[in-house]
Amino acid sequence: MDAVEEIKSKLDLVEYIGRVTKLQKSGRSFKGLCPFHTEKTPSFHVFPDRATWRCFGSCGEGGDLFTFVQKRDNLDFREALRVLAAEAGVQVSQEGAQKRSHREKLIAVVSAAVDFYQQCLRAPEGAAAREYLAEKRGLTQATIETFRLGWAPDDWRILRGYLLVRGYPDQDIIDSGMAIEPDGGREPYDRFRGRIIIPIADERGQFVGMGGRGLHGEEPKYLNSPQTDAFDKGRTLFGLHLATDAIRASGTVAVVEGYMDVMGPWQAGFQNVVATMGTSLTEGHAGLLKRYAKRVVLAMDPDAAGLAAAERAGSLFLGLDSLEAMARSARSADALTAASDLELRVAPLPPGKDPDEIARDDPEGWREAISGSVTFAEFLLRRIMGSETPQSPAEARRVVDRLRPVLVAVRDPIERAMYVQRVARHLGIGEDAVLDRIRQASPAGRFQRPVPPATEPLSQEETLLALLLRYPHLRPRFRHHPATLFGSGVGREIFERWQEGEDFLLPAPDDPVVTRAHALQQRRLPPLSHDEAWQAAQGKLREITRDRVMQHQAALTEELAEAEKSLGANAVARLADDVWRGAIPHDDNRPLAEGIMEDLQLGLSIHRREAPEGV
Ligand code: UTP
Ligand code: MN
Repeated sequence: MDAVEEIKSKLDLVEYIGRVTKLQKSGRSFKGLCPFHTEKTPSFHVFPDRATWRCFGSCGEGGDLFTFVQKRDNLDFREALRVLAAEAGVQVSQEGAQKRSHREKLIAVVSAAVDFYQQCLRAPEGAAAREYLAEKRGLTQATIETFRLGWAPDDWRILRGYLLVRGYPDQDIIDSGMAIEPDGGREPYDRFRGRIIIPIADERGQFVGMGGRGLHGEEPKYLNSPQTDAFDKGRTLFGLHLATDAIRASGTVAVVEGYMDVMGPWQAGFQNVVATMGTSLTEGHAGLLKRYAKRVVLAMDPDAAGLAAAERAGSLFLGLDSLEAMARSARSADALTAASDLELRVAPLPPGKDPDEIARDDPEGWREAISGSVTFAEFLLRRIMGSETPQSPAEARRVVDRLRPVLVAVRDPIERAMYVQRVARHLGIGEDAVLDRIRQASPAGRFQRPVPPATEPLSQEETLLALLLRYPHLRPRFRHHPATLFGSGVGREIFERWQEGEDFLLPAPDDPVVTRAHALQQRRLPPLSHDEAWQAAQGKLREITRDRVMQHQAALTEELAEAEKSLGANAVARLADDVWRGAIPHDDNRPLAEGIMEDLQLGLSIHRREAPEGV
């Protein structure tokens, strides 16, 4: 039995959740008020048989013991595992325990190295480095101590010798990144030599790595610890452990690129600043930050070349050198904020100046830049619009054409309407004119509907999507339907974006999802009243559900197959549809309904959770 199963078997889900919200037996489940949203009548259910829970009210959350703890305490899976393992008295699997103690070992090595380098900075041999930090960088003794800065002497094995004497084995020293093992069995040597040391900690202040800066323009300017079991650049933000209080207090976190850009503002009294260490902002970073604040202000030089270099899927791409790159930036910013529920903003910093210099030379300027931050899309729009008002219709047209990709990338229709308004005002023309121009500038480039109605037959799922897109008043009725209703990834994404309010009125030739949705949106459908549209959608839904249930049960669930024999496929499909819409039958079909729900929905959400060693 693995640790997860063992924990689940030792902790009683009903008792565990019952500590948070009072639960009452109701048939085969227990129900109570949902701990994740405010409600007056209980719609939160715990199913002891299957050890799962679900809210059938407005939040629609559900999962198992682990997802419950993750959601309650805002933890990732690994952290929830730790909490629950301690509670259940379960030893986390051998490998997990080894991994963790390995991580702890590496942290111990790096911490010892931080101590050593800090002593070296204070010693006579650290004189040049001290002078550099004080004179060239203007750092005070207090800042140097707070950030535990150090000096790595220009020596091949001084740190390794220090660590070996204190009992740290070579393998740990190498694994921690503090030393490098040369080929051919020669002796390991120190990674950092003749550099100022800037320790890097995780959010709890445990040292996981370091950066080293040369004093004399050496290449590279900063040498960094490699990725290790303790140090993951995509999930580590420099300075976070010192910034959390200020971030919480201000509700805002400023994200900069560099070590110095954290320490400069810190010294000037701006302590809600963290650095990505020269890479782009990833979802891993966003996940860390959202525990402390919703508002993330990018205070980076947006033209920095370094940002484009270190790309990872899912990270914010700040390419601003071409219109295409800006459109891509707008889309990835939109995706990042949607995924992490953060408010992403950009501070307009004076060009050519580091946050480091601004915060110390002109604290008022820093304050203004952070408080004057604008949304990411607005930042791009301003850049493209420039400051001058166009002098001719042709010029205005060109400006609108250039703005189009950014406007299309903004999913939220209200936000987009605001930008259209802003653009119209800037150009001194009506909003309709802007919208018209954007529609016309589609690849078809005519005055007619940009995309000719597609004529190939639609699948059931596509027909349903076309209905939904054409009749947005159906939205509230489909609020609780999972996107897994749709078999294709594109279908799911269209559905999710539609649920969020996207209307796909504008085509976007470079985005396959929007292209498909727009084509469906343009589909010729019989004119239907509100009621007829709802009837039609329900009909389609039932057909899809039936197909899906049959596929599933054929592959997986004997229980369902049997039910189908005794009740008939239609009854099972209707039941599945009810479950999806949040109704739990109170008759004999209840266990079956739970089964359907588990198979079709919960299973997916549980299996999707983060892998324990988060890649
Ligand atoms: P910058 O080149 O902007 O450095 O790189 P900086 O922070 O302003 O440093 P100073 O003011 O010149 O001392 C931003 C960040 O990118 C990473 C570092 O984290 C740096 O702080 N970087 C940069 C590297 O890791 N290696 C490099 O060679 C350069
Ligand atoms: Mn700098």
